[in-house]
Amino acid sequence: MKKAMVKIKLVLEEQSQKSRAGFVKVKFNEKIKQSRMCKIDGRNVLEVKIGKPNEMNRRKWIVFCRGLVQVAKSNGIERLEVAWDRLTNFKNLEQDDLGQLFAEAVEMANYEFRKYKKKPKEGWGDIKEVKLVFSDEKVKRQINKEIKKGLSVVSWVNYARELANISGGDLTPIGLVKEIRKIIKGRDIKMKVLGEKEMKKIGMNGVLAVGRGSGEQSQFIILEYKNGAGKPIVLVGKGVTFDSGGIDTKPHPHGLEMMMDMSGASSVLATLLAVNDLQLKKNVIVLIPAVENMPSGSSMRPGDVIKMYNGVNVEIGHTDAEGRLILADALAYAKKFKPGMVVDVATLTGASLVALGTKANALMTRNDDLAKRIEKLAERTGDYVWRLPLWEEYEGDIAGERGDIANINTKAKPGEGSTITAGIFLWNFAKEYDKWVHLDIAPRMTADSNEQLAKGAAGPAIRLLIELLEK
Ligand code: BES
Ligand code: MN
Ligand code: ZN
Repeated sequence: MKKAMVKIKLVLEEQSQKSRAGFVKVKFNEKIKQSRMCKIDGRNVLEVKIGKPNEMNRRKWIVFCRGLVQVAKSNGIERLEVAWDRLTNFKNLEQDDLGQLFAEAVEMANYEFRKYKKKPKEGWGDIKEVKLVFSDEKVKRQINKEIKKGLSVVSWVNYARELANISGGDLTPIGLVKEIRKIIKGRDIKMKVLGEKEMKKIGMNGVLAVGRGSGEQSQFIILEYKNGAGKPIVLVGKGVTFDSGGIDTKPHPHGLEMMMDMSGASSVLATLLAVNDLQLKKNVIVLIPAVENMPSGSSMRPGDVIKMYNGVNVEIGHTDAEGRLILADALAYAKKFKPGMVVDVATLTGASLVALGTKANALMTRNDDLAKRIEKLAERTGDYVWRLPLWEEYEGDIAGERGDIANINTKAKPGEGSTITAGIFLWNFAKEYDKWVHLDIAPRMTADSNEQLAKGAAGPAIRLLIELLEK
């Protein structure tokens, strides 16, 4: 799978004069209403309207940089020249990490999912090169460092998007294992995979129950990156390669995007690959329960009671609430590693989309310090989060009638508080960890129509997780 595609070149003002041939210069002009192409001194210039420069902030700047790429693409421009000073000269724009943010914005905006498309005769129309012009050598050096990091991070963000975009029939649990085996080759990441036999032996019945209706074999993937002295950080990613809902089947059109129900898995995998690229001095374990949730004669039924990996009996109130079952086993399994922190990432509930739209991930934890830290990093990286409560009062909502607990709140109307219900369910399997965070990334599974990204998978939480691991 492909890595970063845009070449970002940094040059000092004097040097740039000679090598400008073929580049379209971007000029910022507050007066022009939209972007337009024009000629100034015989050179092609793309004029871009900034709007209200005093209101430019980090959030807007990220989208603005992506927009620059989209505007260039729609004008058939392959090479851009941008004056860094002008690009970043906004009164209220915090300057730290802008180089990283720029690289990420450019690459994320340039990415499109093309696996199933024929290449058009005139080519894809990608941006090939961006030349950044600096007036100060020191600034140039600093931005160069940041851009390098950004390109490394974003290549994995786009990799995660690519994996999530692949059809359910083409990326099954076994297919995911094969892909991971390929991608970690030659890297400092070790993999162990538990098949159905091994899972049966150790009683990983949450994972097995969800995958039972599918003709595809369920897999439990363990990835290890060891490069530090401290306790390991365990990242758990929901790897439902296709979610039909099971016996409680999803009606049209709700199944259409459910090939992306492994976005949690692709996010934690991408994070680990970036951590390896950056050679962070940390120990990181990634756990991916990979299953397909299908209806068939062998599916788990509503009313079945499953004895989970940690011995808790879970009553199945709804077979479409499958993600929490596989995550629960993974969270309990994480204990083996004596983790210093556990983070699970999952496209867990449609209700989180109802609550937050497509602009923020839902964050749940009982650790206030950790929540605050993550909220801050989220703001810095562009992987926004919004916290929902995990109060004790919610614990009774999933009390079981015929088992210890149920996988849904049978007393509530459909959707009522169901993001929190899912979080509380997971808490039952993670309560021993001082530092446990649950990220419901369903809101950010696909790109928002206003964020200047191609339709489809958005690659959520990776930039945030990398920062969290780094700090
Ligand atoms: N994978 C879905 C959640 C989802 C929905 C993610 C839309 C992204 C976009 C999850 O497995 C699911 O089906 N959740 C149900 C739970 C319900 C039955 C309690 C939901 O949210 O409707
Ligand atoms: Mn489901
Ligand atoms: Zn699901």
